[in-house]
Amino acid sequence: MKTSKLLALCFALASASTWAGIPAAGGGDPLKLKGNAKQGEEVYEVCSGCHLASGIGRPDGTLPVVAGQHTAVLIKQMVDIRSGHRDNPTMYPFAQSMTAQEMADSAAYMHTLKLSPKNGKGSGKTVKQGKALYEKDCKSCHGANGEGNEAKFIPMLSGQHFKYMQRQLGEMRAGKRKNADRDMVKVIKAYSDADIEAVSDAMSRLPTPKKK
Ligand code: HEC
Ligand code: HEC
Repeated sequence: MKTSKLLALCFALASASTWAGIPAAGGGDPLKLKGNAKQGEEVYEVCSGCHLASGIGRPDGTLPVVAGQHTAVLIKQMVDIRSGHRDNPTMYPFAQSMTAQEMADSAAYMHTLKLSPKNGKGSGKTVKQGKALYEKDCKSCHGANGEGNEAKFIPMLSGQHFKYMQRQLGEMRAGKRKNADRDMVKVIKAYSDADIEAVSDAMSRLPTPKKK
């Protein structure tokens, strides 16, 4: 096994259950820095080429909604993308070139962007089954309305695109998203494609918070 692969494996094993906030970039740990949304707007300019100025991404599932997401969640994902802990070849060079302060600032800015209730939705035919699965298996972590939990780096799911969530769940089930939550992966392993479709359908219809 190549040294780089071995290192990646050790890293994946060491950090599978708890995430220790890797000092990602020049200037230390972005989670410990105060983010400045105004500066973040400038940093975000280059990101908007893919994520759009609105932060709403694309309903086709290629680009997630980043608008209104919890600041700490956004930072964790950028750190993971930067370290290769979450595979994202298209964004990797951009994450690589960011300083810790730029991560904190852009996260603060993305958090201020408004969610849209016009996110990509599922067929609507599987909402009932999906809702039952969500209540049983997901609500305890992601919250009754998909609000997530910033202190635990649990993403907000309301307002997210159906196709993005469906794809992420498939990738987590296949073990392809290395930074996925270990306890969540245990749950999703038992899901069929139909279960994944149904739960994503229900989640795509979670109410979006009023003030966002
Ligand atoms: C070349 C296109 C591209 C550019 C430029 C880009 N991203 Fe991304 N980004 C992506 C893709 C694609 C994903 C989703 C990857 C996946 O599906 O796993 C993503 C995911 C993310 C996520 C994780 C969201 C979530 O819900 O987990 C964050 C945060 C993010 N990007 C922030 C940024 C910031 C900040 C910048 C600018 C510094 C940026 N991105 C620039 C393509 C891009
Ligand atoms: C034990 C807590 C826990 C449970 C239970 C759980 N999740 Fe998660 N989920 C998380 C965490 C933590 C993350 C973020 C992982 C990371 O850091 O990348 C996440 C990420 C996600 C994402 C990706 C969001 C994004 O922006 O990329 C989706 C979609 C998701 N969960 C859906 C579900 C569904 C559906 C269920 C139930 C079948 C579920 N989760 C159960 C903790 C949980």
